[in-house]
Amino acid sequence: MASDKSIILITGASNGIGYDTSYHLAAASPNYHVIMSARTPSKGEAALKEIQARNPQGTLSFLQLDVSSDESIATAAKKIEEDFGRLDVLVNNAGIYLRDATRDNLRSTFDTNVFGPLLLTHALEHLLKKSKDPRIINVSSGLGSITNRADPEHENYQVPFYPYRMSKAALNMMSTCQAFEFKEWGAKVWAYCPGYVVTDLTGKEDRENRIARGAESSETSAQGILEIIEGKRDGEVNKFVRRYGLQYPW
Ligand SMILES: NC(=O)c1ccc[n+]([C@@H]2O[C@H](COP(=O)([O-])OP(=O)(O)OC[C@H]3O[C@@H](n4cnc5c(N)ncnc54)[C@H](OP(=O)(O)O)[C@@H]3O)[C@@H](O)[C@H]2O)c1
Repeated sequence: MASDKSIILITGASNGIGYDTSYHLAAASPNYHVIMSARTPSKGEAALKEIQARNPQGTLSFLQLDVSSDESIATAAKKIEEDFGRLDVLVNNAGIYLRDATRDNLRSTFDTNVFGPLLLTHALEHLLKKSKDPRIINVSSGLGSITNRADPEHENYQVPFYPYRMSKAALNMMSTCQAFEFKEWGAKVWAYCPGYVVTDLTGKEDRENRIARGAESSETSAQGILEIIEGKRDGEVNKFVRRYGLQYPW
C-alpha cells in the first residue's frame, strides 16, 4: 500500500504538535502517507477521523504505539513492515513534562522522552534503511540546551524542572549519536525544538497561561517539521534546529 508515497510515522499524534503535524503533512502533498500513532486507540482513531474529514491531499492511517512499552514498539514495527515494507520519515514527537524530581517522575520522563525514541528508532532502523531518503526528527526542547541553561542572560536560565530538562538534554545527545551512527546508510537526523506553543503538555489548565505568555499556535511547530521533511533544512543535518530557520546551541 502507498509504496510510491513517502511513509511518515509520527508518535504522539493524538494531540498537540503531533496532531497538527499530521494534518499539515497530509495537507501538503498527495505523495505523503502519514501514520498517526498514539498510545490510546480511541484518541488516535478520533484524531485520524477529524483530520480525514478535512480532506487533505495525502493519506493517513492510525497505529497503536506506546513508546514506553517494548511490546508496543515491537508490534508497531511489525505492522509497519507488513503494511508498508519501509519507512521514510520518523518523527519522534511523543513526550511528557513532569516537574518534581522524584524517582518515579524521572523514570517515567526518561522512559517516554528518551528511551522510547531510541528503542523505537532501533526497532525501525531496518525499515528506514530501505528508504531512498531516510529522515529522523527528534522533537526536543530549548529547555534541553545545556548552553542555554548555563547562560544567565538566556530567557530559559531560570526555568527549573529537572526531569524534563534532563530528558531533553539526553534526547539531544541521542540525536547527535544517531546522526553519527546512521550516516553510513544515509539517514539525516535533526533535533528540533517546536517552540513555546499552545498544547496540553503542561496540562489543559495551563493553556490559558501559555496564551497569556505569548505562546504561538502549535501549527507553527508543524510547519517547522514540514520544512525539514521537504528538505529546506538539509544544510543543518545533525544540528539542534528551531522554527523560522533558527538554531539552538546544544
Ligand atoms: N508545547 C510546547 O510548548 C513544547 C515546547 C518544546 C517541546 N515540546 C515537545 O513537543 C512534543 C509534543 O508535545 P505537545 O506540546 O504536543 O504536548 P501534548 O499536547 O501533551 O501531546 C503529547 C503527545 O504525546 C503523547 N504521549 C505521551 N506519552 C506517550 C507514550 N508513552 N507513547 C505514545 N505517545 C505518548 C500524548 O498522548 P496522550 O494523548 O495519550 O497523552 C500526546 O499525544 C513533546 O516531545 C514536547 O516535549 C513542546
